[in-house]
Amino acid sequence: MRKYFIAGNWKMNHSVSETVEFCRQFRVKGLKNISSDIVLFPPSISITSMVKILEDTPVKIGGQNMHKESNGAFTGEISSEMFVDSGCDYILIGHSERRQYFNETNELVNQKLKKALETKLKPVICIGEKLEEREAGKTEDVILKQLKKGLKDITEAEMGNIIIAYEPIWAIGTGLTAKPEQAQEIHGLIRNAIKNDYSEHLGKNLRILYGGSAKVQNAKSLLLEKDIDGLLIGGASLKVNDFYEIIQIAENLTNN
Ligand code: PGA
Repeated sequence: MRKYFIAGNWKMNHSVSETVEFCRQFRVKGLKNISSDIVLFPPSISITSMVKILEDTPVKIGGQNMHKESNGAFTGEISSEMFVDSGCDYILIGHSERRQYFNETNELVNQKLKKALETKLKPVICIGEKLEEREAGKTEDVILKQLKKGLKDITEAEMGNIIIAYEPIWAIGTGLTAKPEQAQEIHGLIRNAIKNDYSEHLGKNLRILYGGSAKVQNAKSLLLEKDIDGLLIGGASLKVNDFYEIIQIAENLTNN
């Protein structure tokens, strides 16, 4: 039986009060019997409220970004330990918006990744190519480089706690979703790379999410691809009905 992973990346959207309202409506829909892994990544300021409201549900919560140090004079930053203490289980690392607007490099992604693992926060690492890289036929090179540098010195045991999200940058927030077969091609590439670098077993069990304009209308066709294990959803995860509907699509695929 396939257990999907459906995650919502809210980015800088929904205030604390809007988050509380979302969670109330989300709970009422019924979350108890969900078999997929569900994770929400709200703005950090809403984490404690969300943790409290969703406490007795299977929904897990994560941070959108973390600092590589535990504490210190880094105004405005939040450490991995602080996310854990607030009730988070997951952390997004290396989202393309962090890479683009905050100059995050593969090296920094690797440092954050190690820190997250050390503190038992499960990392979801985002990788993906820009439109010009795709058009220049460089997609594979870009992806393999992001994997190689991002996962430098990560052991096989540690890899067991890591999730990879393939998010083609040209598809994020643009309404342009990668076609299921386009996404599958890169998911297959990622899985093979992990099989080669680690082991057949690890590659087989690795969870690889697709992100980039995933929505109700395309969720099923994406999730049916053999190497797509779940979705990292931006815009569509902000609407409780859409997010819940996508979860139901995953549940139906699992149970039928
Ligand atoms: P989107 O964002 O679904 O709004 O394209 C996805 C993401 O950036 O994780």
